[in-house]
Amino acid sequence: MALEISVLELFSGMGGYHSALTELSKELPDVHFNVKAAVDVNEVTNRVYKHNFQTTQVISKAIESVPNGFLKGLNVDLLVMSPPCQPFTRLGLKRDTGDSRCRGLQHVVQCLNRKVIAPKWILLENVKGFEESEAFEEYNKCLADLGYDVTVEFLHPFNFGVPNARLRCYVLASLSSNIPPISDNQSLLSVSDCKIGPYLSETADVGDHHFLSPEAAKKYLPVMDVVSRESTHCMCFTKSYGRYYEGTGSLFFQPNICDDDIDGLKSTQLKELVLEGRGKLRLFSDSEVLKLHSFPDWFSFPDDVTRKQKYKMLGNGLNVLVVKTLIAHLLKS
Ligand SMILES: C[S@@+](CC[C@H](N)C(=O)[O-])C[C@H]1O[C@@H](n2cnc3c(N)ncnc32)[C@H](O)[C@@H]1O
Repeated sequence: MALEISVLELFSGMGGYHSALTELSKELPDVHFNVKAAVDVNEVTNRVYKHNFQTTQVISKAIESVPNGFLKGLNVDLLVMSPPCQPFTRLGLKRDTGDSRCRGLQHVVQCLNRKVIAPKWILLENVKGFEESEAFEEYNKCLADLGYDVTVEFLHPFNFGVPNARLRCYVLASLSSNIPPISDNQSLLSVSDCKIGPYLSETADVGDHHFLSPEAAKKYLPVMDVVSRESTHCMCFTKSYGRYYEGTGSLFFQPNICDDDIDGLKSTQLKELVLEGRGKLRLFSDSEVLKLHSFPDWFSFPDDVTRKQKYKMLGNGLNVLVVKTLIAHLLKS
C-alpha cells in the first residue's frame, strides 16, 4: 500500500508546490501526496489553481481567518508555503515584521506553536534577504523550540541545469532527523550548462505583441538584459515583467537571419546587433516563462486569464524543479 502524505499548501498562488508534488509522485510510486487544502487570498491565482487541481479544496481567505479547528482536522504531514516576499525586498521597503504582509507567516508561527498544525516536514520559500529578517528569527526560533532540525539553502534554477537565475532562500525543517546540506548530494545539482533554445516556443504562442518597436528597443536598450537562444542564463522574471524593462527579466534577441553566429555573445554584444538592425527584441511569452520555471506540460491557465495576470503570477511564483528536488531531499531525511 502507498504511503499517504497529507499536505497543506499555504500562500498557494497558482500551485507551484502542488505541481512539484504531482511530478514527484511519478518518481515515488509508493508515496501518495494528498494536498488536502490550499489557502490564498487572491481570487485570480485561486482560479488558476482550481483549473489545474480540481480535487483540492482551495480556500480563498487570509490564513489568519481560517478556523484553527479546520487546520487541526487536516492532520498535516507536510507543510509547504511561500509567504509574501515584499516585507524583505528593497522595493517593498524591507519593513519586515512592521509590514502587514508579514501577518500571514506570523499566524502560521502561532499555529505551529499551539500545535494547531504539527507537520513532520516543512518547506518554506522566500527571497534572499528573508534569512536576515526578524520574521525569519521568529520562525526559526519557533521551529527550534518545537524540536525541528532546520537547514537553509540558497539556490537558483541554474544550479539544477535550468538556464534561469532566480535566487531564493529555502528553509527546510524536519521533526524526524537531521537534514544534510543539499551540497552533500552533488548528484542533485547539475553541472552542465543548458541553453535557452530548448525553452523557446515554436512561434505559435509568440505574437506581434511580444515584439518591441525599434523605437522602444532603442530607448530602453541601456537598461535591458538581452539574451539569445545560445545564452546559458536569463534573468529572474518578476511580477512586473512586460510592464518595465529594467530588472524585471531578460529580453530575447531574435536575429533576422537564423544562422547568424551568435553563440557566446553577451548582452552588450547582442545590444549592438539590435542597433545595427540585425535582429529584433521580444518578451519571453508566458509559456516560455512557465517552462523556464519548470512547470510541467500539463499545467495550463484558464482562457480568460490575461497576459499581464500570467506574468504577475509567474513572477510571484516558484521553480517547480527546485522545490520538487528539495521536497524529495526533505522526505528522505
Ligand atoms: C509568493 S506568492 C506564492 C506563490 C506560490 N507559491 C505559487 O506557486 O504561485 C504569495 C501568495 O500569498 C498570498 N497571500 C498573501 N498574504 C496572504 C495571507 N495572509 N493569507 C493567504 N494568502 C496570502 C498572495 O495572494 C500570493 O498569491
